[in-house]
Amino acid sequence: MAKGHRKTPEELRSHRWLGVQDLRSFGHRSRLRQMGYDAVDWAGRPVIGIVNTWSDINQCHAHLRARAEDVKRGVLQAGGFPIELPAISLSEPFVKPTTMLYRNFLAMETEELLRSHPIDGAILLGGCDKTTPGLIMGAISMGLPAIFVPAGPMLRGYWRGQTLGSGSDTWKYWDEKRTGRITEAQWAEIENGIARSFGTCMTMGTAATMMSIAEAMGMTLPGASALPAADSGHPRMAAAAGRRIVDMVWEDLTPAAVLSPASFDNAIKVHMALGGSTNAIIHVIAMARRAGIALSLERFDQLSREVPVIANIRPSGAFLMEDFYYAGGLPALMKMLGDRLDGGAMTVSGETLSDAIADAAVYNDEVILPLDKAIYAEGATAVLKGNLAPRGAVMKPSAAEPRLRQHRGPALVFRDYNHMAAEVEREDLEVTPDHVLVLQNAGPKGGPGMPEWGMLPIPRKLVKAGVRDMLRISDARMSGTSYGACILHVAPESFIGGPLALVRTGDHIEVDVSRRLLHLHVPDEELARRRAEWKPLPPRYERGYGAMFQQHIGQADEGCDFDFLESGAPVPEPEIH
Ligand code: FES
Repeated sequence: MAKGHRKTPEELRSHRWLGVQDLRSFGHRSRLRQMGYDAVDWAGRPVIGIVNTWSDINQCHAHLRARAEDVKRGVLQAGGFPIELPAISLSEPFVKPTTMLYRNFLAMETEELLRSHPIDGAILLGGCDKTTPGLIMGAISMGLPAIFVPAGPMLRGYWRGQTLGSGSDTWKYWDEKRTGRITEAQWAEIENGIARSFGTCMTMGTAATMMSIAEAMGMTLPGASALPAADSGHPRMAAAAGRRIVDMVWEDLTPAAVLSPASFDNAIKVHMALGGSTNAIIHVIAMARRAGIALSLERFDQLSREVPVIANIRPSGAFLMEDFYYAGGLPALMKMLGDRLDGGAMTVSGETLSDAIADAAVYNDEVILPLDKAIYAEGATAVLKGNLAPRGAVMKPSAAEPRLRQHRGPALVFRDYNHMAAEVEREDLEVTPDHVLVLQNAGPKGGPGMPEWGMLPIPRKLVKAGVRDMLRISDARMSGTSYGACILHVAPESFIGGPLALVRTGDHIEVDVSRRLLHLHVPDEELARRRAEWKPLPPRYERGYGAMFQQHIGQADEGCDFDFLESGAPVPEPEIH
């Protein structure tokens, strides 16, 4: 469609279902009337699909049923016809074995919900970790105008005068409890105080990182991502998104018109400045590939050297998302990054990024730091390579003890999660603080689903001795709320015979973040001998979704999408007969 052209009602996609006069459209309209609608509800109006990931067992999305109503109010105000479509909810703590097993499921469901119904534009309601990339990947592939409405972070946690951060403080106080430094009663008090409202984790975990990235990509209304879920501004933002999506349909402002290589570079730079979750790397690559934009791990590393961590938010910093919002939120942080970002990138608001954040300001420079007072001079994530990870691995140096950014030590290898979980509790485990803990078979096919096992627990006997960080290497992911010297996403993974599968206890491993090096000090001939002996494990799933997942899932450096869902030939519009 020509730029500046506004669609006519006859050009709406839904017109094929509702606007023509034939036997099928009679069926569609009579069924709408069956639900109590009348022609005034739909005639000539864009139909807006509200893809809602609310469920009774998703604590982070508990308010999304109400928010769907707020979106509907906005859609109606602007002359649209709102239709709510429930989708799989993916509560991070409750869905087992890992929500990552289902991110692509949500992406596929989002795409097909929009394709198979008479929908002209979409509002995507989500926020708990994988729901953001899942919804956006699906919407990109479908290609209809879409706005992501982030669920928003929950309020700060609180216990005995201290703030508590989701995840980060759970790990911290769990270690205190393991060593008897806090009582069962105090632990129970923390359980009461750490999650005080609906909304997502309020540290800079995967949820906050991905909601921020969605905003930096231009896929949310400006300022939406840090808005606390319980703030009255949140339903107002949802209604505004409802109004805006109707206009976007008339303007035909599709994800393809919003997203560009610059949008993804902006997203990566924001990720770096936030000290964001390592999980985001996988999701950004997957979203970019859906948009037909090739992104490599090298691009992350390149940009990480240009952008310092300036968001003083746990786990890299001290504050929480509520503080970040009061300090000016993401628009203020993006403004602070200045011309490091491409201000010409488009946003769903119809404005460029620089216009959208023109009025932003930092109100608390302890939370959003000036560039010359960064927490960490480089960005959040380093990409390491070497003979142990030929296709790369990632690390969050800002969340690691500085001594471990350059380290060489003997490996202590665990063949899988259960082996590791039993061993680390042994008082007689032969381990020193210089050991490098290695976990195998936790990758995309091996986990399967690449569970968040990458922050391997420090062995009990070392925790008791006061050790709080060690070098840990795996092909797993780790929670965005985790911290420590954890090297993750090793590719190719051990389950398919990547070099991580060949490491043995006692081998020396060297890491040097400044040189981006991850090296296994074992001669090539010995590695070749071990490779010849290596035998693959049988797949965990023989049938069902898990079997399909194991067959089609890509490696971490490719974004872990299904091979048949990545950008490719367009899917035809459904025939209507
Ligand atoms: Fe939902 Fe952390 S559990 S965002």
